[in-house]
Amino acid sequence: MFFAAECKALTVCLVGFRSTGPYYGRLGCCCKIFLVAVDQNQEQVNERVEGCGVIVLGLETSCDETGIAVYDTRCGLLAHRLYSQIAVHAEYGGVVPELASRDHVRKVMPLIHEALAESGLVVNDLDGIAYTSGPGLVGALLVGACFGRSLAWALGKPAIGVHHMEGHLLAPMLEDNPPEFPFIALLVSGGHTQLVQVDGIGQYQLLGDSLDDAAGEAFDKAAKMMGLPYPGGPALSQLALVGDDKRFTFPRPMTDRPGLDFSFSGLKTFTRTKILAMAVDGVLAEQDKADIAAGFQAAVVDTLSLKCKRAMKQTGIKRLIIAGGVGANTRLRQQLRDTAEAMGGAVYYPRLEFCTDNGAMIAYAGAQRLAAGQSSDLAVTVVPRWPLVDLPAVAGVTAMEIAIDG
Ligand code: KG4
Ligand code: ZN
Repeated sequence: MFFAAECKALTVCLVGFRSTGPYYGRLGCCCKIFLVAVDQNQEQVNERVEGCGVIVLGLETSCDETGIAVYDTRCGLLAHRLYSQIAVHAEYGGVVPELASRDHVRKVMPLIHEALAESGLVVNDLDGIAYTSGPGLVGALLVGACFGRSLAWALGKPAIGVHHMEGHLLAPMLEDNPPEFPFIALLVSGGHTQLVQVDGIGQYQLLGDSLDDAAGEAFDKAAKMMGLPYPGGPALSQLALVGDDKRFTFPRPMTDRPGLDFSFSGLKTFTRTKILAMAVDGVLAEQDKADIAAGFQAAVVDTLSLKCKRAMKQTGIKRLIIAGGVGANTRLRQQLRDTAEAMGGAVYYPRLEFCTDNGAMIAYAGAQRLAAGQSSDLAVTVVPRWPLVDLPAVAGVTAMEIAIDG
C-alpha cells in the first residue's frame, strides 16, 4: 500500500475517501483520503485527512515579479501565474522599490483567482500558504507576506515564510527528471552568486560566495554602461549572440587562486575602461558593443564554469544544478552541461520561466516544509538579509508524502 510504504514510523490503514470536486477524475489522483494512523502495536494514534498531497498556494513578491502558483505534493504543479513589472521600471533603468510594492498590491489578488481557477480548486481546498519572506525588498516582501499570512489565518490553515534562494535552489525539482540528493547548486541571481552543497532540503553548506557584485548584478551594470535597456542580463546576452567573444580578452576573476568565492566588480571596471577606449564622441559602434558584450559574457560564464568544476572535484559530487535568473543564460547552460558531462556528471536546471523569479518555486519549497510539519507563527515577518544556511532541515524525503491535518 502506497501510504504505508511512505510512512516510516506508523503503519497506515486506508479507510475511505471523498472527492474534492472538479479535480477528481481530471488528474485521477486528487481525491481526499481519510487515513487512520496506527502505531506498531496496531493502536489507533491519530486520524488525519490526507489528500492527493499537500496543496499549497505560493506567493512570490520579493522584487519585480508577482508570481503565484498552486502546488500539490503528489500531483505536482497545478497552476502558475507570473506578472513581470519590467514595463513599470524600464523608464528608470532599474527597480524602484516603492513602485514594485504598489504593483504587487494590484496584482496579487487577480493572479490568485486566476491560478485557483486554472487548478480547478477553491480557496478552501488549500492545505496551506507559502510566501517569500526574504531576502528581497522589504516593501515588496511585505505585500506577499501580509496577503499570505492573512489568507492562511482566515482559512485556519498553516502558513510558511519561504527563503527566496531556497525556492530557486529547489526549482529543478519541478521538472520531470529532478536531481537526487546530494547535489551542488550554482545560485546565480541579481543578488546572489553562491555555490552550495545540498544534502537534502534545508541541509545546505555554503561552498563559495560573491565577495562583491553578484553575477546578475554585473550583467545588469555592464548592460547599463552600454546603454542597453533594463533588465540588462537578457539584453546583454541577446547582443552577445552577434558579437565576437575573442576580440577582447576580459579577465576571469579569482580563477588563478584556490577557493570557490567569486568577485565580479573588477569585470565592471574592465568593461567601463573598454567602453571609454572604444567610444567615438561618447558613442559605441554597434559591432564594438556586441563584441564587448560577448567578451564580458564569456568571462562570466568561464569563471562560473571553472568554479563549478572545482566544487564538483572538491566534493566528489557529480550532480550540478543551476538556478536563479542568470541560469536562463543560454551560453551558461550549454557550457555547464559540457563541463558536467566531461566530468562524468550531469547538470539539471529549471525550465527557462522558472529560472527567474516565480511562484512555483515558492509553492514547491513551502509545500515541502508544510508537509513536514513546519510553519511560521502568526506574525508577518520579512527578512531582507537571510543566510541560506540558517534554514532548518526537513527530515527525510518521506516528509513530502505526509499530509497536514485537513
Ligand atoms: O532570480 P532573478 O529573477 O531575481 C533575483 O532573485 O535577483 O534574477 C534576476 C537576474 C537579473 O540580474 C537579470 O539580469 C539576470 O538575472 N538574468 C540574466 C538572464 N536573464 C536574467 N543574466 C544573464 N543572461 C540572461 N539570459
Ligand atoms: Zn530570484
